[in-house]
Amino acid sequence: MNYFQQNRERCLEELKEFLRIPSISTLSEHKPDIRRAAEFVAAQLRKAGLNGVELIEGEGNPLVYGEWLGAAGKPTLLFYGHYDVQPPEPLNEWMSPPFEPTIRGDNIYARGAADDKGLTLILIKAIEGVMAMRGSLPLNVRFLIEGEEEVGGEHIESYVAKRPPRLQSDAAVICDTEMFAPELPTLCIGLRGIVYGELIVKGARQDLHSGIYGGAAPNPLMAIAEILCALKDRDGHIRIPGFCDRVRPPAAAERAAWARLPFDEEKYRMEEMGAQELTGEAEYPLFERLWARPTLEVHGVRGGFTGEGAKTVIPAQAVAKISTRLVPDQQPEEAIEQIRKAVAKTCPRGVTAEFRLIHGAAPSMVNPENRFLRAAARAMTEIFGNETVYIRSGGSIPIVGHFDKHLGIPSVMMGFGLPDDNLHAPNEKLYLPNFYRGMEAVARYLDIAADGS
Ligand code: BES
Ligand code: MN
Ligand code: MN
Repeated sequence: MNYFQQNRERCLEELKEFLRIPSISTLSEHKPDIRRAAEFVAAQLRKAGLNGVELIEGEGNPLVYGEWLGAAGKPTLLFYGHYDVQPPEPLNEWMSPPFEPTIRGDNIYARGAADDKGLTLILIKAIEGVMAMRGSLPLNVRFLIEGEEEVGGEHIESYVAKRPPRLQSDAAVICDTEMFAPELPTLCIGLRGIVYGELIVKGARQDLHSGIYGGAAPNPLMAIAEILCALKDRDGHIRIPGFCDRVRPPAAAERAAWARLPFDEEKYRMEEMGAQELTGEAEYPLFERLWARPTLEVHGVRGGFTGEGAKTVIPAQAVAKISTRLVPDQQPEEAIEQIRKAVAKTCPRGVTAEFRLIHGAAPSMVNPENRFLRAAARAMTEIFGNETVYIRSGGSIPIVGHFDKHLGIPSVMMGFGLPDDNLHAPNEKLYLPNFYRGMEAVARYLDIAADGS
């Protein structure tokens, strides 16, 4: 029995401890929990045997840093994860409370179980295990764990942009993605970018009686509906001028590989999504729609009357939270300009409409031929006993673009979540076999990456 098998129970207990901290980065009342989570990570890094562990303070939530640089002449890997989580609402839909980790079957349920506390701990425990078994690592590692990924990660971007010598590495290892299926080791080689903002629409000076003024007064909620329908049509096509010009279609070989993935679209629709029908641009296959086409979504609309019963009112103002996902080679700055122009052009008479940016991140792609990716594929294949597949993901991880742009290093996106982990949703979970196999896969990766492949 190796260290990982011997220490399963204790690792699980430590995961539970981490999951009990409600480190929600969107809500300022959770600042003390954010700090507790950062300190938990720092203590874990020290326990794993890393040196120079400290919290890097800045404008936002602390970054947690640690290193082990005892393998002269060997490559250096920069390990990344995040300790912040999304808000747990709606609470009544959770089968057990979001911050009371609960095991049911092979899964542990809690907010952050898969995104990203469980996966971050996999990285740390892999190092702890190798250090405990051998007293050293086969290559050099640095850890940079952040606490505001879920809100756009400004602190980490400004820190990485300074190119501190402390971050100098040959490749990054990002543990924040999912596998395509439970037994299918997966490397993610592409992510969508994002532009997230608020559409603020204003009409009359104040709310108005809809009987007395209806027919003459502008209605900001109607205006939001009109603008949104003009930005994206009923068939899922984005109608923002120029928006799709830079979209690079996937290569034929990548498309063909996606078509070979073991996948049951009906099961996906019924069980994973629970929807009547899949929508979107019908002329593109599903994975292309999810991974290689831009989208526009509305997340919430605020304004007017939403209480019990009826109130006949024309609201003076309404706000919609919206985002677009970007694919290579779209860029956030250009997309923001295009959105602003399109909003101005489609804004109906009688109201003003403004797009206020909340955060943005570039899309990213990595070359699967890179030696650090090939090593990762070998390690995953060995541990999971199946050939590793390469996929993209529709989600966004801003740091991948920053590592590329500022440090010039590729990111190996080796993640252990599953498609039904309910990220950002009620009943988020982590499949426990992946928690343990993940540690072994990362440990194996260190050896293979150390010697090239
Ligand atoms: N870990 C996710 C992104 C992800 C999920 C990538 C599944 C691949 C597979 C990350 O924490 C996340 O949720 N990112 C946000 C973006 C952020 C800028 C708010 C997202 O994608 O909405
Ligand atoms: Mn994440
Ligand atoms: Mn997330």
